[in-house]
Amino acid sequence: MIARLLYGVDVLEGLATLPEAIPEICIKAGTSAGGCCGTCGSPFKRIVKGVSGTSKECPKTQLAHEVRGGIGKVTGTVGKSGSGRINEYSETLGWQPTCQCHAETIPCTVLDPFAGSGTTGKVAVSLGRQFIGIDLQVAYLELAKQRLGLFAV
Ligand SMILES: C[S@@+](CC[C@H](N)C(=O)[O-])C[C@H]1O[C@@H](n2cnc3c(N)ncnc32)[C@H](O)[C@@H]1O
Ligand SMILES: [Zn+2]
Repeated sequence: MIARLLYGVDVLEGLATLPEAIPEICIKAGTSAGGCCGTCGSPFKRIVKGVSGTSKECPKTQLAHEVRGGIGKVTGTVGKSGSGRINEYSETLGWQPTCQCHAETIPCTVLDPFAGSGTTGKVAVSLGRQFIGIDLQVAYLELAKQRLGLFAV
């Protein structure tokens, strides 16, 4: 019933809430998974190493390579008709501060000033962030509190 009051549909049956993938992208892009400085809030920077993957099979056939005048092979090809095909990826080596405070590391905080039923908060908490939600409607905050297990509203 409260759900119909809020959205006009039954949210408690899983309808009409924000898809979690949307805030997930924003939270990952906008906050550091490595946390931030407990004194000034500067985010920790990810230290990454590029890793070259192994060659993967070229989708072209050997004949297709030869017709094109290439010297490549079906697998692990390098050259005119089949340049090296590698699955590159990056590996996280660690995190480093972006300030000089030398203070404790704390989780980054996500602020949603239009928190509604708290989907952004739910995702933020699941990603290890702290969350502050604000909303005009107390009923929304109560729902968010139930979903998130918040201890303060
Ligand atoms: C679409 S919902 C937000 C969904 C939410 N971000 C989430 O992650 O689930 C929009 C919310 O903005 C709130 N709102 C609208 N105007 C506002 C205002 N001026 N100040 C605070 N909240 C407001 C509404 O009460 C409503 O709950
Ligand atoms: Zn700092």
